[in-house]
Amino acid sequence: PGSKAIKHFLQFSDFSLDEFEYVIERAKVIKRKFKAYEVYHPLVDRTLVMVFEKSSTRTRLSFEAGMHQLGGAAIYLNTRDSQLGRGEPVEDAGQVMSRMCDIIMVRTFGQEIIERFAANSRVPVINGLTNEHHPCQVLADIFTFYEHRGPIAGKTVAWIGDANNMLYSWLQAAEVFGFHLNVSTPKGYDIDPSLVSTQRYTFFDNPSDACEGAHLVNTDVWTSMGYEKENAERLKAFDGFIVDAAKMGRASPDAVFMHCLPAHRGEEVAAEVIDGPQSVVWDEAENRLHVQKALIEYLLLGKIQDN
Ligand code: CP
Ligand code: NVA
Repeated sequence: PGSKAIKHFLQFSDFSLDEFEYVIERAKVIKRKFKAYEVYHPLVDRTLVMVFEKSSTRTRLSFEAGMHQLGGAAIYLNTRDSQLGRGEPVEDAGQVMSRMCDIIMVRTFGQEIIERFAANSRVPVINGLTNEHHPCQVLADIFTFYEHRGPIAGKTVAWIGDANNMLYSWLQAAEVFGFHLNVSTPKGYDIDPSLVSTQRYTFFDNPSDACEGAHLVNTDVWTSMGYEKENAERLKAFDGFIVDAAKMGRASPDAVFMHCLPAHRGEEVAAEVIDGPQSVVWDEAENRLHVQKALIEYLLLGKIQDN
């Protein structure tokens, strides 16, 4: 089995505020180097393995390009083309993969799958999305908020839509960073209390009320990967939960709009919002690259002195 001493990033609560503050500072430095075309190769000869059991555009691109930019290599595996799709136990996969590389990213279904994988890994494991959590995206989003508006502590973040992986990572982030969430989900799509260990949120039946005074308005797809069969009934249940200009009008005048993407204009968000002046969605996507490079660097090298 893997060593307990290994630091993983399997959910947002795995890192302390101090660690996030370090990673955010490093992400600023790493982003600046990238923009200046500065060669920065602290991870020469290191290899990242990426395991995808679900589709991806941003996560694959940002991890693969990021590892390359740090001087290392990245290997992409998916369920179909690896033995994972033919029933090799996830514990065995963790043992084998972690003997051939330095760090592993996993995108899969249940959180317990990545937990079992990590328990058998000799190297750090990063959650690239599970049904329950998407911590890398929320880290990128908090970095994006810092860039546009400064520290998120004490702010109000509205979450409108599904009680999904993004929401649970935002709830963990609220506890670590000290901000408040106003949450509105449709009836029958309630927050799972077993996944929440913070008091830092208020539930609203009415999604417009949840936007009142918010500094950040956040939504996501109504049907996450793995739930496709429920799509038709979800479309009905989520009627009225679209983030449109009227809902943004209830938020603070300087509110930003976020969506982890991919988005569905006319469903969870109106084009006028996602393509409008308050939207920071492209920065969120780009910042996946910079924060994950900082995250990988931290997991492999610890806290370093470098500018
Ligand atoms: N936001 C996000 O994780 O996107 P992908 O599914 O494209 O990786
Ligand atoms: N909640 C979405 C996020 C995709 C990046 C999903 O799990 O499909």
